[in-house]
Amino acid sequence: ILFEKNIEYVLISLADLTKDLVNAERCSIFIYDRNKNILYTKVAHGVDKIELPADKGIVSFTAKTGKIQIIVDAYSDKRFYPEIDKETGYKTRNLLTVPLINSRKEIFGVLEVINKKKGIFTNFDAELLLLSASYISYLLENVILNQKIKETHAKLIYKLSSAAEFKDVETSLHTKRVAFYSEIIASGLNNDKEFVENIKLTAPMHDAGKIGIPDAILQKPGKLTKEEFDIIKTHPTIGFKLLYDEESELLKFAANIARDHHEKWNGAGYPAGLKGENISLEGRIVAIADVFDALTTKRPYKEPWDFSSAKNLISKEKGEHFDPELVEIFLNKIDEICSIYEKYKE
Ligand code: C2E
Ligand code: SIN
Ligand code: SIN
Ligand code: SIN
Ligand code: FE
Ligand code: FE
Repeated sequence: ILFEKNIEYVLISLADLTKDLVNAERCSIFIYDRNKNILYTKVAHGVDKIELPADKGIVSFTAKTGKIQIIVDAYSDKRFYPEIDKETGYKTRNLLTVPLINSRKEIFGVLEVINKKKGIFTNFDAELLLLSASYISYLLENVILNQKIKETHAKLIYKLSSAAEFKDVETSLHTKRVAFYSEIIASGLNNDKEFVENIKLTAPMHDAGKIGIPDAILQKPGKLTKEEFDIIKTHPTIGFKLLYDEESELLKFAANIARDHHEKWNGAGYPAGLKGENISLEGRIVAIADVFDALTTKRPYKEPWDFSSAKNLISKEKGEHFDPELVEIFLNKIDEICSIYEKYKE
C-alpha cells in the first residue's frame, strides 16, 4: 500500500509534467475497464474521479481504436462527450488523446490533455504525449502486477494456514476466529489500516509450525509429559523458519506471529522468553486471540470453557501473560468479541 501511494504520487507528477510539456491546462490518465465497459481516471487535474461509458467520447474512441486524436474544436466533434464538462463546470475547447499500451501490446487506457494554452495541439505535441504515455504505461503495468502479487500472497497464506488443519488439530473455524479476534484488538490500537489488514491476513498462520510436531503428541487426550511439551515448544521456531521470507513484508509479519505467539508479557513464555515490548506487537495481539479461542473450544486434551470464564482468564493475566494495554482493548470490545464467538461457534 505504501508502494501504491508512492506510485500515485509519481503518476500525479508525471501528469503535471506532461501538462507543462505540451502547454495544456489539464492532463488526465484514464484506465479502460473492459469488463465494466467504462473508462475511469487514475489521475485528473483539479477534479474528482471521472468515469465515462466506453462507447462515448473521444477518449473512448482512442481506447477502442488505439488512434491518436487531435481535436481542434471539441464541441463541433460529434463524438465529443460533453457530460463531463457539465459535471465539472469546465469548458473543453480542444484536446489531444493517445493510447496507453502494455507490454503485450494491449490498450489499457488513454492519456489525455485538454486546452492548449495558446493555439491548438500539434503533431509535435502528440509525439511528446506518446513519450509520456510510454513511461506512464510502464509504471501502471507495474502497479497492476504488484496488486496481483499481493493477491497471490494472500491466497498462499490462506493455503498455508490450513497446513495445521490438515493434521486435524485445528479447524478452519479456529483460524477464522483467531483472525477476527486479532483484527478487533488491532483496530482498537490505532487506525493503521495496513497493520490491521496484515494481522487479519496472517494471524491464522500462527500455528503453521505444528506441522512439524508428531500427531501422537498433538492428539494426545491427556496431559503432556515434560518431554512432550518440550517438543511442542519447538512449533513457534518451526513456524518462523517455514514462513520467513526476506522479500515479503507480509511473510515476515506472519513469521513474527508464528515465532512470538507463545511469548508472555512477563517474560515467562517460549521460545525466547522475551519480555514486554521486545515481543512483536503482532505476536502480543495474536497471543490473546489464540488463548481465548483455545479456552473456548474443545481440544483433544480439554473441554471448552464458557465465555465468561475465558474472558476472566484473559483479564486475570493482564500484565502477566498478556500486554495490559491490549487486554484493556479486548475487554472494551468484548461485545464484538462475543459476536464472533457466537457467529463462528463449532
Ligand atoms: P492450543 O491448544 O492451541 O493452546 C494454545 C494456548 O492456549 C496454550 O498454549 C495455553 O496458553 C492456552 N490454553 C489452552 N488450554 C488451556 C487451559 O485449559 N488452561 C489454560 N490456563 N490455558 C490454556 P501452551 O500451553 O503453550 O500450549 C501450546 C500447545 O501445546 C497447545 O495449543 C496444544 O496444542 C498443546 N498442548 C498444551 N497442553 C496440552 C495438553 O495437556 N495435552 C495436549 N495433548 N496438548 C497440549
Ligand atoms: C471526451 O472524451 O469526449 C471527453 C473527455 C473529457 O472531457 O475528459
Ligand atoms: C505488503 O502487503 O506489505 C507487501 C507484501 C509484499 O512484500 O509483497
Ligand atoms: C503499529 O502499527 O502500531 C506498529 C506496527 C508494528 O509494530 O509492526
Ligand atoms: Fe501455538
Ligand atoms: Fe492456535
